[in-house]
Amino acid sequence: MKTNKGQSIRVVNDLESGLRLELINQAQAAYRQAYVPYSHYPVGAAVLFSSGRIYSGCNVENASYGLTVCAERNAIFQAIAQGERELKGIAIAVPTEAFPTPCGACRQVIREFAVDCPVILINGSGKTKVTSLKTLLPDAFGPEFL
Ligand code: THU
Repeated sequence: MKTNKGQSIRVVNDLESGLRLELINQAQAAYRQAYVPYSHYPVGAAVLFSSGRIYSGCNVENASYGLTVCAERNAIFQAIAQGERELKGIAIAVPTEAFPTPCGACRQVIREFAVDCPVILINGSGKTKVTSLKTLLPDAFGPEFL
C-alpha cells in the first residue's frame, strides 16, 4: 500500500500559526468545563472549520457510563449544528503529563468531515505534538464510499 508520509507532513504544517495558537488556547479552556465525576479525566477539544470559525467542547460523562460523549465529538457536533461541513484542524488538550490521543470513534467522526487534517495534541505542561488524521486513521472508510 502506498504511504502518505510526505502528504501528512504537509498537512500537519498546513495550519497558520495564529490559528494553531487559537485552537490550542480554546482546547485548554474547554477541558476546564469537562464534566468528569467518574473518570476524573478532563479533555478539551477545539475544531477549526472552513468558515474560519472555531468550536470547542469538553467530555460529558453520565452515571450510565456508556452515554459519555468525548470532547472531540461534542466540539464537532456543535459545529455541524451551526451549518459547518469542512473540518480543517483539531486540537485536543488534557491536564495530565501524558499526551491525549483521540479514541477510535472520534477518529472516525473527524474522518466524516475531513479526508485529512492536522491533529494537535496538548499535554498539561502545554507541550504540543502535531500529527494528522491519516496517520491516526490510515485506509479509512468515509462518505465517498457510499
Ligand atoms: N475521552 C475524550 O473526551 N476524548 C478522547 O479522545 C478519549 C476519551 C473521555 C471520555 C471519558 O469521559 C474519559 O475521557 C475517559 O475515557
